[in-house]
Amino acid sequence: MRRRTLLIAIILLLVLFGATSCRRANRPASAAAIPRPAQYELRLGKEVYQSYCIGCHGDTGAGDGFNAFNLDPHPRDLSDPVFQKGKSNAELADAVRRGGAGVGLTSLMPPWGHTLDDRHIDAVVLYIRSMRR
Ligand code: HEC
Repeated sequence: MRRRTLLIAIILLLVLFGATSCRRANRPASAAAIPRPAQYELRLGKEVYQSYCIGCHGDTGAGDGFNAFNLDPHPRDLSDPVFQKGKSNAELADAVRRGGAGVGLTSLMPPWGHTLDDRHIDAVVLYIRSMRR
């Protein structure tokens, strides 16, 4: 009887060990499938957007944030593929950094160069790219 208990314990241990070593073997493969830095920058951009931009530009970038009705002109639709195609990343970053007044648009678009550093601005531009319809 004691021998059988011992045998069962050993089998259970082997099964457990097998399961954990399998999981360990899978990890590098799934990690390699996700390009980490890009995904991190994208999430950072989303944080920035949700903190500073969503109130005017809206959830999906469509220009329908809760404050948009106060603005004339309304924020444009950042998710519009035609708009996206017409602007380089550098142009978008410049508009974010210097604000509307800095790039010949309305001053209702605030300048963010004192609030956000280059890394955060690049990240939010990356996030704007991901909102493309
Ligand atoms: C107070 C409202 C408001 C906030 C907050 C705001 N924007 Fe704007 N934004 C505007 C308005 C108004 C315009 C000018 C109209 C337009 O062209 O979209 C604009 C324009 C832009 C443009 C330029 C579009 C073009 O034609 O080149 C970009 C890019 C942009 N905003 C990104 C952002 C980002 C990123 C944030 C957050 C860091 C942000 N905006 C925060 C109101 C706002």
